[in-house]
Amino acid sequence: MRMEVTLQQANKGLRGSLEVPGDKSISHRAIMLGALAQGVTTVKNFSDGQDCLTTLAAFKKLGVEIDFDTQAKKVVINGRGFHGLRAAKEALDMGNSGTTTRLLMGILAASSFETSLVGDPSLSKRPMARVTEPLAKMGASIKISSQQTLPALIEPSSLKGTTIRLEVASAQVKSALILAALQAKGESTIIEKLPTRNHTELMLKQFGANIETLADGLTIKVQPTKELRGQELVVPGDISSAAFFMVAAALTPNSKVKLINVSLNPTRTGILRVLEKMNANMTIQARQSDGEPLGDIIVESSKLTAIKIGPKDVPALIDELPLVALLAAHADGISEIRGAAELRFKETDRIKTVCQELGKLGVNVKELQDGMVIEGQPQLRVTADISWDSHGDHRLGMLGAVAALRNPGQFRLKNSQALGISYPSFLTDLASLIVG
Ligand code: S3P
Repeated sequence: MRMEVTLQQANKGLRGSLEVPGDKSISHRAIMLGALAQGVTTVKNFSDGQDCLTTLAAFKKLGVEIDFDTQAKKVVINGRGFHGLRAAKEALDMGNSGTTTRLLMGILAASSFETSLVGDPSLSKRPMARVTEPLAKMGASIKISSQQTLPALIEPSSLKGTTIRLEVASAQVKSALILAALQAKGESTIIEKLPTRNHTELMLKQFGANIETLADGLTIKVQPTKELRGQELVVPGDISSAAFFMVAAALTPNSKVKLINVSLNPTRTGILRVLEKMNANMTIQARQSDGEPLGDIIVESSKLTAIKIGPKDVPALIDELPLVALLAAHADGISEIRGAAELRFKETDRIKTVCQELGKLGVNVKELQDGMVIEGQPQLRVTADISWDSHGDHRLGMLGAVAALRNPGQFRLKNSQALGISYPSFLTDLASLIVG
């Protein structure tokens, strides 16, 4: 169902503190490893976005008993072990979720039954050969469409350990290979192009798998693993969601916002480095934690300077690049984002959609094949009425809500239903910070 809403302004600024929902990447992996483990896994602060519910529903259809207390945001999974999943009665619906699709391909590549995967129109355009081809080197048999997209048919196979050099910097592809490698005969070596988010590796260690990242930070050795053991997990706040409020506070005059219990895993904190380099007013307070690093982040209204982003910066802020473009639009000087062609393969082609929506605000932005060049206007105040389109992409939708805050023009958000993919209560949480 398509929805349209009027976005709020924050003439008097944003104030207060907020705990954003649990990390989406970690929540997906918690269900997956919990299902593959022996015994019970409990997950606190599970992300209630549609994408993670897609993972939860898929594993229920594969025969796993999972209980989700939506009020408490707590999930209890009765693990079935590597060989305990059952054939689903029908095709599994992957909805909009690339993470569910690609990681599931790795998990099911070694299963003894067939599984079909289908997805929504956006997911059905996204490239899948980047996963099926390296998995095939391990012996997997996954059929995809002639356009190398969903629908997919995962056929039973027995896998062998091998050495694979990844051609794209993608945590989803890396994770699929790791999850397959656990079930293969013999050791596997997976070599990344650039370091990407390492939640799969960290969580697998916690579950007792034999997996090691070498000192180069790029080479991962995985040994076949007979058994994972159920764990008690607490998911930290999603930095990719918190980033919208950090940027909102930096861009809106008279603002000071504190984000509590946010994941500070260095493979995800590129946005903090960017805010620092752009001279944002920001304080980070690390907290004691046994698992993934976490802490509180305080951001105040800031005078920003332009930034240059290159290929090496991209993996640690891949999902935050639309926000970097908005920061750049209001910074002093000309900013460049390069080496980010991966943005073209996200929920939308985010180079195209970001340039299109920023263009509506009168921002001078040039589209490059692998990024964009943005001319900043620190004084920019949009007085025209704007119809911002999420294009069905959750992050584009939230970007529009942030863009609206400092502008006197009336902003409408088209296709606002997309926000539910990662953050159903985003507009309510944003409203709670707006000074009335
Ligand atoms: C994710 C990895 C990233 C990211 C996505 C979530 C993950 O995708 O954009 O939102 O959970 O592994 P790629 O690994 O394809 O870049």
